[in-house]
Amino acid sequence: MISKETIAKINDEADIIDVLSDFINLRKAGSNYKANCPFHHEKTPSFVISPAKQIYKCFGCGKAGDSVKFVMEHEHFSYVEALKYLAQKYNIPIEETIQSPEFIEQQSKREGLYIVNEFAKDFFVQNMFETEEGKAIALSYFKERGFSDTIIKKFQLGFALDSYSALTDAALAKGHQLEMLQSAGLSSKKENTKLDFFRERVMFPIHGISGKVLGFGGRILKNNVKAPKYINTPDSDIYDKSKVLYGIFYAKNAIRKMDECYMVEGYTDVISLHQAGIEHVVSSSGTSLTTDQVRLIKRYSENITVLYDGDAAGIKAALRGIDIILENGLNVKVVLLPENHDPDSFVREQGLDGFDKFVSANKQDFILFKLQLLLEDAKNDPVKKAALVTDILESISKIPDAIKRSIYLKESANLLGVEEQVLLNESNKKRKDILSKQRKEERIQEERQVKEQSMIDDLIQHNQDYIEAGIHIEKFERDVIRTLLEYGGKPYKEDLLTAEYILDRLNEVPIENDLHLRIVELARKIDDKTNEESFSNFFINHTDEELSNLAITLLLGNYNKYDTALSDGWAKKKMHTNTKEQIFKDDIDTEFFWLRYWRIKLLEIEVLKRLKQASPEDDMTKLLMMKKKVDTEKAAIAKEKNTVITPR
Ligand code: GTP
Ligand code: MN
Repeated sequence: MISKETIAKINDEADIIDVLSDFINLRKAGSNYKANCPFHHEKTPSFVISPAKQIYKCFGCGKAGDSVKFVMEHEHFSYVEALKYLAQKYNIPIEETIQSPEFIEQQSKREGLYIVNEFAKDFFVQNMFETEEGKAIALSYFKERGFSDTIIKKFQLGFALDSYSALTDAALAKGHQLEMLQSAGLSSKKENTKLDFFRERVMFPIHGISGKVLGFGGRILKNNVKAPKYINTPDSDIYDKSKVLYGIFYAKNAIRKMDECYMVEGYTDVISLHQAGIEHVVSSSGTSLTTDQVRLIKRYSENITVLYDGDAAGIKAALRGIDIILENGLNVKVVLLPENHDPDSFVREQGLDGFDKFVSANKQDFILFKLQLLLEDAKNDPVKKAALVTDILESISKIPDAIKRSIYLKESANLLGVEEQVLLNESNKKRKDILSKQRKEERIQEERQVKEQSMIDDLIQHNQDYIEAGIHIEKFERDVIRTLLEYGGKPYKEDLLTAEYILDRLNEVPIENDLHLRIVELARKIDDKTNEESFSNFFINHTDEELSNLAITLLLGNYNKYDTALSDGWAKKKMHTNTKEQIFKDDIDTEFFWLRYWRIKLLEIEVLKRLKQASPEDDMTKLLMMKKKVDTEKAAIAKEKNTVITPR
């Protein structure tokens, strides 16, 4: 667990403006800052940050909190992950309080997955640098590809041995759980097997935005086998291939600085460009881009440049999934590399200067690139050309910004030789459809949020009610026990001792606290309860220290209670008209009343919760009967309340 001192230091150092500007664009507005809310879709900023109070609040969706809360919500981090992220950002060493084995076991699953991934990453690195096989096969492979030691170490590249279960065995020996290895996708899920998922492959750890290893890509080394060239970690609680971008951790600062992000296809493209000094680059790992990935980039820059191979496949890849970028309001440029080159091979051949020169000379606007490409293809075929108009309109209509749209429409009309107005009409129609679809999605999303929030509110309320009832029950149990100890030996009325009276009533109103129960059991066993002194002394002098301590505490507490009660005018008057005996008899009734009251209350909370969460398979009749019983009891006790003496 992170120590209180560390948490305090993090809270002191983390400035909300500084923290949030890593994720969103802030604008000064008076003494506050404003931004478009990152938690819901909006066009006018309603997300307000107060540097004075160090908090944020969205007046649109209601999300609010401090730096830690923001990082948790925005990055989907746990509390501990958020603290660790901020500690890293501000170079605050993390002091941890000592962890018990129980605590380690309790740590959330996500933490567990990060831990095994970290272990696997280190294991793969060690395999590569410290085994003969690793050095001979993996390290030499990377060297042959022109990767320097520095870059290999920076990207934490490694090697999965040619072995069935080297990683699984090593992890188990270190005390990691097989189940965790399976959940992380490192070990096969097949029952009764111990099998590594990655075998005989060079390994590329895939880092999340804060540098944690979320998963791996593994490249085969042999050329002539049927197995896929690359395999990736299957999706897990921390790895979702549609949400990660390879290289984002190493690229994010450069992307912000350059206000541009290069998008390439492969792991090796990212690494080679880094080695050459181009750091604002990420890879989609060969799949088409998703909205989540585009939004990830949008935090740092709104300009994406796609660098793809100049061959047919590269062009196809460049066209695929780019509408997603437009839809999210980013600007897209395209660079087609010379045929038979990918960014990795091209930068190795050309060096940094040649690469940069080529890119700036060949950078084209995506829409115009697409238009020219399709136009070449369509030539004078009117059918193809009609299809092309539809296609290009589709892309343009996705751009949220109206001015940009109109510029593209004008340009397209020129190139296509059609009237601008025709394109404009069509585009407006499409835009309408898109907007209404978006609005519908927003509504659904909103409804879901409201529902989730009310469920959480319910749960919190329920827990608070539950805790409150528990505290009251504990208190009144204690009061009953105290009265038993203090007045047990006194006569309640002729032929009936107070202890007997209380013990009898306890048959109907059960108590739960173990220590209290033991006192009750012991009290039942005392044969001669008549001596007032010896009755309480029996407990005060009991050999069980826990028990005698409680007895002493309770009896002292009672003494104090009457002390203060005496100074109270109302109590004095009562003392006057009633004997002390009458007061303790009233007390017993009052205590039992409230004990019963809170027990019923607790039952009610439980029944209501179950009714709310009940699924069709649940036994509704039984629940409703319980509810009825609770209501009857409540009514009965409400009646009794009028006859009970002291309200509390
Ligand atoms: P090298 O051949 O090592 O230079 O890799 P590359 O990045 O040039 O490979 P390529 O252009 O063939 O593929 C680009 C990206 O697509 C890779 O980095 C992988 O992320 C992905 N990819 C390639 N082959 C496969 C495959 O067989 N399976 C999967 N799942 N992904 C692949
Ligand atoms: Mn390549």
